[in-house]
Amino acid sequence: MSNLLVIGAQWGDEGKGKIVDFLSPAFDIVARYQGGHNAGHTVYLKGKKIVLHLIPSGILHADKIGIIGNGLVIDPAAFFKELEDLKSIGVEVNEKRLMVSRSAQVIMPYHPQMERVSEAQRGKKMIGTTCRGIGPCYEDKAARWGIRLADLLEPEILREKIEENLAIKNKILEAFGQPVFQVGPIFEQYQRFGEKLAPFIKDVSAYLYQQSKAGKSILFEGAQGVLLDLDHGTYPYVTSSSCTAGGVATGLGISPKQISGILGIAKAYTTRVGSGPFPTELKDETGELIARKGDEFGATTGRPRRCGWFDTVAARYACRINGIDLLALTKPDVLEGLTEIKACYAYEYKGSKLKDFLSDPYVLDRAQPVYRTFPVWSGSIHCLRDQEKLPAGFVDYFHWLEDELETPVGIISTGVAREDIICFKEKCSRLLGTKAEQLLEGL
Ligand code: IMP
Repeated sequence: MSNLLVIGAQWGDEGKGKIVDFLSPAFDIVARYQGGHNAGHTVYLKGKKIVLHLIPSGILHADKIGIIGNGLVIDPAAFFKELEDLKSIGVEVNEKRLMVSRSAQVIMPYHPQMERVSEAQRGKKMIGTTCRGIGPCYEDKAARWGIRLADLLEPEILREKIEENLAIKNKILEAFGQPVFQVGPIFEQYQRFGEKLAPFIKDVSAYLYQQSKAGKSILFEGAQGVLLDLDHGTYPYVTSSSCTAGGVATGLGISPKQISGILGIAKAYTTRVGSGPFPTELKDETGELIARKGDEFGATTGRPRRCGWFDTVAARYACRINGIDLLALTKPDVLEGLTEIKACYAYEYKGSKLKDFLSDPYVLDRAQPVYRTFPVWSGSIHCLRDQEKLPAGFVDYFHWLEDELETPVGIISTGVAREDIICFKEKCSRLLGTKAEQLLEGL
């Protein structure tokens, strides 16, 4: 196994940041392939909370190279703010350690403004986006109006593109009673961004090809989660990028054959931020308790996350459409303190039992989850690092999950620290080969 993809198997916020941080020492390069600064990857380093949005989490390791692929949308101001934030905690990131694709799309000041108009227009059906301009920027990409990073380095082209865009955008904004934008200030600001970004802008696809040929290994870091994927998620309540394994090749300009293994991350319960269907949602005290204990607030927007039971129908779908080889289960300790826990294994829909996930909101809104109830294990797994000490009740629970998901669970995260982790050696070795030994020794 040389290259590994880490992907969220639910609606995002599964704890990918911590797992990527744990795995990074075994890889040379960590690459993001989709999304933007809508993501929030939380890592705890020596007890200190660090949240990364745009820059791959692996950058926290001083000897790793971070890559931002063409599949991302970049807000230059957010990019530089993140570099500053990293510097303030002693993480130096320069162009030798971080590269951004020439072909990544640029989030422009009119994008968040257009997004607010679009959300308001939807009324009760609003998506509940992060309002970072992500959707409108991807819209422009698909509509072929987008401005790419390389364009920031070509003043004439940049000015022309801003003029063309504003000719349309200003008309729309005006029609909705919104302030309009002037070409001059945007051009000047983005030309300056271009000058500052220039050292970071590279042909990422060619770089990854050369590095792979030289035997370097890549960790692909997914953002958001499978159920927020533009094609396979709960459309239209999704983000605007390809969060699934399919997005890796298009989002970095590499062959799909470069993905040698896929690790899915799933939380021991389910959360969702923003609107959209959520069959196992708990709108009661139990949901509130999980939210409080699990500190379930959006890492980017601070919004409270909706909480619910584990949904194996949805997670099995995530395993199937991505070909997930192994799962990491995060935050099971949050469930301790409840009297019993539930997991959904089917939906009742129109008089029949559904075991296969359908992504249409109007199906999911009417689908009734069918649950299996488990007693909460006795003894705590919080911060446990020894596999032998896992309570028997918890082992039974995750073996049941493995059967339902038809996918082995090989990693259990038991707390926020990098070391609060249990890796089942045999299962991890099957996926990670000799890298598994290296990671286990590093604990
Ligand atoms: P957007 O990505 O800002 O367009 O938001 C679309 C939907 O995806 C909204 O429901 C957001 O709350 C959700 N979303 C976007 N990024 C994340 C994330 O990193 N974690 C969880 N939900 C996200």
